[in-house]
Amino acid sequence: MAGMTPELEDLFTFLRFPSISTDSKHAGDVRACAEWLVEKLTGMGLETTLHPTERHPVVVARNEHKPGRKTVLIYGHYDVQPVDPLHLWTTPPFEPEIRDGKIWARGATDNKGQMLSHILGVEKTLKEKGELPVNLTFLFEGEEEIGSPNLAPFLEANRELLKCDVIAISDTGMVAPGVPTLGYGLRGIACCEVTLRGPARDLHSGLFGGAVANPATAIAHLIASLHDEEGKVLVEGFYDDVRPLEDWEREMWAKVPGVSDEDFVKVTGSLNLFGEAGYSSAERTWARPTAEVNGIGGGYQGEGSKTVLPAEAFAKFSFRLVPDQDPADIMKKVQAHFDKHCPPGVSLLYEGGHDGKPYHADPNGPYGLAARRALKAAFDAEPVMIREGGSIPIVQAFRDILGADTLLLGLALADAQIHSPDENFPVENFESGIRLNQALLEELAK
Ligand code: BES
Ligand code: ZN
Repeated sequence: MAGMTPELEDLFTFLRFPSISTDSKHAGDVRACAEWLVEKLTGMGLETTLHPTERHPVVVARNEHKPGRKTVLIYGHYDVQPVDPLHLWTTPPFEPEIRDGKIWARGATDNKGQMLSHILGVEKTLKEKGELPVNLTFLFEGEEEIGSPNLAPFLEANRELLKCDVIAISDTGMVAPGVPTLGYGLRGIACCEVTLRGPARDLHSGLFGGAVANPATAIAHLIASLHDEEGKVLVEGFYDDVRPLEDWEREMWAKVPGVSDEDFVKVTGSLNLFGEAGYSSAERTWARPTAEVNGIGGGYQGEGSKTVLPAEAFAKFSFRLVPDQDPADIMKKVQAHFDKHCPPGVSLLYEGGHDGKPYHADPNGPYGLAARRALKAAFDAEPVMIREGGSIPIVQAFRDILGADTLLLGLALADAQIHSPDENFPVENFESGIRLNQALLEELAK
């Protein structure tokens, strides 16, 4: 294509792999994507290995590790979210295109664009200087979007290979275009699914409605029992371990551009804001826990009406957690809540899903300061410091298993539409990501 730099060519190739981790039909595509990475990294002179897991492979690439240098691990994920609803995409999700200065494709921001900018930053430094200022380990997984089920065991089994002083990730948010953003916290997550069963089979709602419980009505009751009218979670003990927000954080966040309540209304396209009383939208999403329904099902979904009383109904839930909540403890409390609030006449089947602990680090430590200098150099602007509403479950596991803290150098804009149709990544962010990687390794080496 005309006007395409070699860097963009690489990104387009990377984006064309439909590496959807949750869908087993795409397992071959996920693997092909990993193999392309291996080829790219090997071509740059890094010692690269592909490690199969029970599902999708892990890719590790290293330069020569020399004594006396800092060791930096850069993590990213090459898997992507599903693309549905497909008809809402302006152009096909795996046929990347540049429009209005942005790259449009599934994974453009989350996480292929951000991740590749680090790879290309390293490639550039190697070309320019023949050598990196640090010992570098790239660690790329293909299971982040399904909760990284095989990565913690991989860390346990490869502590020596992955030993490092500090970890860097670009897989989080940037508050506004051109505003460099250091993340120092992530929410944790715990997922589950509940199925309510009533009659042995779908019934005629005229013949039997009124005589037996309707599981779809029952699931609505169960879902409604989770919150009060103001959005506070009613699960007993849910807030027991929530660390209160510090005054300095609230003051600092109030000055961060791009995250005012008005900005949240605009970027979400919502009528109004809604959430726990006494907190701004940034505070609600970065530092307060939530209960969300991710999906509801049961009964007739087709055209027109069908007078049926469904045999079962289900709902899928995710709980976002903050320090010092523990996912296992929360899921016990949630399960007890469901048992207590299950309406009569239906049986309840609970299935636990994936989870991850929340993360919180000091942004003023030596590595935090180095990251802030690098952000300033790459963007020529003063960085802001935030926590994140999203989750990257492996980050706390990095600390627990490898003993290293993580710098979150986000390049994802609020309107990047990650996990949604028309995901996009500004070419400008891709290019600044490359500069950021170069500056970061330099600063971390000091
Ligand atoms: N990159 C996101 C997380 C993210 C995005 C954090 C923007 C902060 C700002 C990541 O790929 C993601 O979506 N994670 C999942 C994790 C889950 C599937 C275990 C999430 O947060 O839902
Ligand atoms: Zn994601």
